[in-house]
Amino acid sequence: MDEIPYYLAYESRYQKVFSAGIERWGHAPDDKVLFSTLSKWVEENKLQDKRVIEFACGEGAGGEILSKLGCIYHGVDIAPSAIIKAKAAIKQYPQATVSLLDMVNDPILEKYDAAIDIMGFHMLILDADRMKYLKNAFNCFENDAPMLFFRQSYRTTATEEKIETMEQWLHITKSYRTNEFKIYKLKI
Ligand SMILES: C[S@@+](CC[C@H](N)C(=O)[O-])C[C@H]1O[C@@H](n2cnc3c(N)ncnc32)[C@H](O)[C@@H]1O
Repeated sequence: MDEIPYYLAYESRYQKVFSAGIERWGHAPDDKVLFSTLSKWVEENKLQDKRVIEFACGEGAGGEILSKLGCIYHGVDIAPSAIIKAKAAIKQYPQATVSLLDMVNDPILEKYDAAIDIMGFHMLILDADRMKYLKNAFNCFENDAPMLFFRQSYRTTATEEKIETMEQWLHITKSYRTNEFKIYKLKI
């Protein structure tokens, strides 16, 4: 049988967080820096009443904020538990929607006026996956749509090596090895 795709390891993480009784793993809608950054971005790009897609939307904090700011929001994420939570978070905004989608491999069928990614891009490991994701995002843009990347981790001392396999990535980073990774590498 096939291996479970690596990025679904996030589903396991969300399940662990929620089953431990913790309210959320990711951003909260009252995050002041996130709120002020999105407010400025929406205003500068005139995104009120415009269609905005959020990649790796997690539990929907970005969706709540962007809907409050007047955007027509759509969030996508690969983790079903996060999508259930996000759907509940945006329920008071009738125009806001979320759906399950692998931003690396699933095409985006609709067009959008803008896109946002809050700590999503940096979660992608292989350079080929990053490229596939960016092309996917680019293809769903209407004209010169702006895209905001928020709180993406990076190291100025990181290797310049192209990351082509998970094994290579584990070898280079070592400390990034997680239990989820080991579980999800098992053939089932
Ligand atoms: C650090 S969390 C950030 C979640 C949210 N943006 C926030 O800030 O709270 C990274 C998110 O990326 C999602 N993710 C990872 N790989 C993905 C993929 N290939 N397609 C869609 N979502 C993905 C995970 O499920 C997780 O929700």
